[in-house]
Amino acid sequence: MARYTRIAGSIALITLKNPPVNALSAAVRQGITDSVGRALSDPEVEAVVLCGEDGKFCGGADIKEFARPMTGPGLVPMIDAIEAGEKPVVAAIEGVALGGGLELALACHYRIAHYKARLGLPEVTLGLIPAAGGTQRLPRLIGVPAALDLITTGRHVSAHEALKLGIVDRVTDRNTLELAVEFAKSVSGQPLAPRRLSTRQPSCPTDLDSFLEGAMLRVRQRARGAIAPVACVQAVRAAATLPFSQGMEQEKELMASLFTSAQARAMQYCFFSQRTVGRWSMPSGARWDNSKAQPIHKAAVIGLGTMGRGIAVSLVQAGIPVVAVEMETKQLEVAKHAVTSILEREAQKRGKEPKLGLIHFSIDLQDLREVDLVIEAVFEDMALKKQVFRELSSVCRPNAFLCTNTSSLDVNQLAAATRMPELVVGMHFFAPAHVMKLLEVVYGPRSSPVAVATAMQLGKRLGKVSVAVGNCHGFVGNRMLMPYMEQSVFLLEEGATPEQVDQALEEFGFPMGVFRVSDLSGLDVGWKVRKGLGLTGPGVAPGESARIRQGRRYCPLPDLLCKQGRLGQKTGKGWYLYDKPGGRVAKSDPWLHNFLEEYRSQHGLQAHPVSQQEVLERCLYSLINEGFRILEDGIAAGPEDIDTIYVFGYGWPPHRGGPMFHAGAVGLPTVLEKLEHYSQAHPDIPQLQPSSLLRRLVTAGSPPIHKWREVVKTVHSQL
Ligand code: NAI
Repeated sequence: MARYTRIAGSIALITLKNPPVNALSAAVRQGITDSVGRALSDPEVEAVVLCGEDGKFCGGADIKEFARPMTGPGLVPMIDAIEAGEKPVVAAIEGVALGGGLELALACHYRIAHYKARLGLPEVTLGLIPAAGGTQRLPRLIGVPAALDLITTGRHVSAHEALKLGIVDRVTDRNTLELAVEFAKSVSGQPLAPRRLSTRQPSCPTDLDSFLEGAMLRVRQRARGAIAPVACVQAVRAAATLPFSQGMEQEKELMASLFTSAQARAMQYCFFSQRTVGRWSMPSGARWDNSKAQPIHKAAVIGLGTMGRGIAVSLVQAGIPVVAVEMETKQLEVAKHAVTSILEREAQKRGKEPKLGLIHFSIDLQDLREVDLVIEAVFEDMALKKQVFRELSSVCRPNAFLCTNTSSLDVNQLAAATRMPELVVGMHFFAPAHVMKLLEVVYGPRSSPVAVATAMQLGKRLGKVSVAVGNCHGFVGNRMLMPYMEQSVFLLEEGATPEQVDQALEEFGFPMGVFRVSDLSGLDVGWKVRKGLGLTGPGVAPGESARIRQGRRYCPLPDLLCKQGRLGQKTGKGWYLYDKPGGRVAKSDPWLHNFLEEYRSQHGLQAHPVSQQEVLERCLYSLINEGFRILEDGIAAGPEDIDTIYVFGYGWPPHRGGPMFHAGAVGLPTVLEKLEHYSQAHPDIPQLQPSSLLRRLVTAGSPPIHKWREVVKTVHSQL
């Protein structure tokens, strides 16, 4: 819907009206088309101002309509009619002009933005291209290089950056609408031809061909198999080399090939999953809409190592005063220096002042008397963490929330060490914590809904995608990672190399294969966990076989590397070789290949060629199988929660939706059949035995992913 009013005598004001973001639904498109027609044909109207209700210009297409047959006027003819009209149209941009919303603004002859507005063409993040002239008009407005950047990344820009780039004509901190009306009056009667972007020549770099080739190469490297960014470059190439009408034809063809693609479906599923996870629920029936978060005015972080530093930075950047605590002055000074420089660097990137005054560094727990919430990030050691929680419980206010950043330990045991176990939850951040978007909020059996709501709300304030999950070893993300990593080392025993495994996973779309990640984060991290689980080290019963633990197959290769001091990048060697400790460029290591051969012969293992298909099926399907077990156990509320965790925290390629979505896309019967095949071939690996939920789903006719929750419910009701 669009409201038509006449103001200031000769100005037609068209207001888009479709809460919450005035998306361009069929009714809105009809409303705009009718209103523009009316304004153009009314002789008393000299100029038009286009705006959106409730301080939001337009958030773009109505994604819900994608799945339905198209009704109402098309976006392209509507936009073309605005541009071709003989009266000036001024876009008054408040809040957002995104996707179709920005394309609509580009059809207007002038654009005025409020300084808080954000603009962008995020279609690529939904597996699409801006196909209402965005790929053709934006390069004609701001030049090919700048347009290519915005279109291929989908990044949003502030009004000030938009002004610098030339996307908008004015930025104001006053009433945008009033300024737009004044402006419309001032330009009425001026020639419109130069303002029509479709008639302009885009400004191109001198060596256009090599520029576009370079851009395509970079996009292909970054996109890791995603087709939409490649189509974006092709569309911008059309803008740079073809007349407008032919460019529009190309844009339409490229969009047609993307619109029904599996990748676009996967990315749109990711988009909706992010919203679904915000509507969290707990098995107790507590939910996002019946549990009230408490305000957090002041927080604390205990332990300022890798994680604590990033968490403190995140809190400060969100404007929350923080007490940052280390155990001794020496560590505190090192951490203070590190945190301050991250805050300064981040502030500089954003063109802002660092909020250094918000952070107080201390080694005294007594400084935590006034805080509303504490996030503990000390070493991963249960006894130490319990001690810290006992102390926190006696120092902090009785109603302070006590959170742990543990990556796998039992949240319930920590809660038991406090006076108010209902106020204890996990807040599992990912490294680096001020950069990574994911937060797992872990509720134990005693965590109160208020504590979960508060942690979820805090996550939102920190700009995180927060997912509420149940308490078990490794929660959702790390629990699923274990069988995946195990398969990868079993494959080495059977004949693969780290390079082969990594290449298969990277071609699938992961930014890094499992062995490169392991070198980056340090092999000692997993070593410590395995020691804690009694899989290696002094906890192992004497005489136990090196390749069997707790009755199932075990691969000691990572432990052997650790024992030799090969901890990954930090020691200059791990699964790969680096030029120096701390080096980043991984090279194949002949030593490692020899070592693998010797290991196999020592254990009587026959190497066989491992295909890329086997790598993917064994690594990914064992991870997916654990995902089904997590659903069955009620640790995650639905497949969307698991997929969001994997896309935002574990580098799962968004154009493949997430592991559970991928299982549905491959076909659940296929996943089941492959798991059955591999578990028969490897009966000593229980993780390969198909989960009962997967079997049930297949028996139920493999329903689409949005129906899985119903099947899970029947499983739970029968328990
Ligand atoms: P880290 O070893 O880098 O830092 C731990 C810090 O805690 C050290 O600076 C140490 O001095 C301090 N500390 C130890 N005892 C203390 C005490 N009693 N009071 C105050 N400070 C104390 O460890 P990292 O990697 O930051 O991990 C911290 C926690 O976060 C662990 O539970 C870990 O499992 C978890 N985690 C780690 C991730 C990672 O990628 N490193 C990812 C997600 C969670």
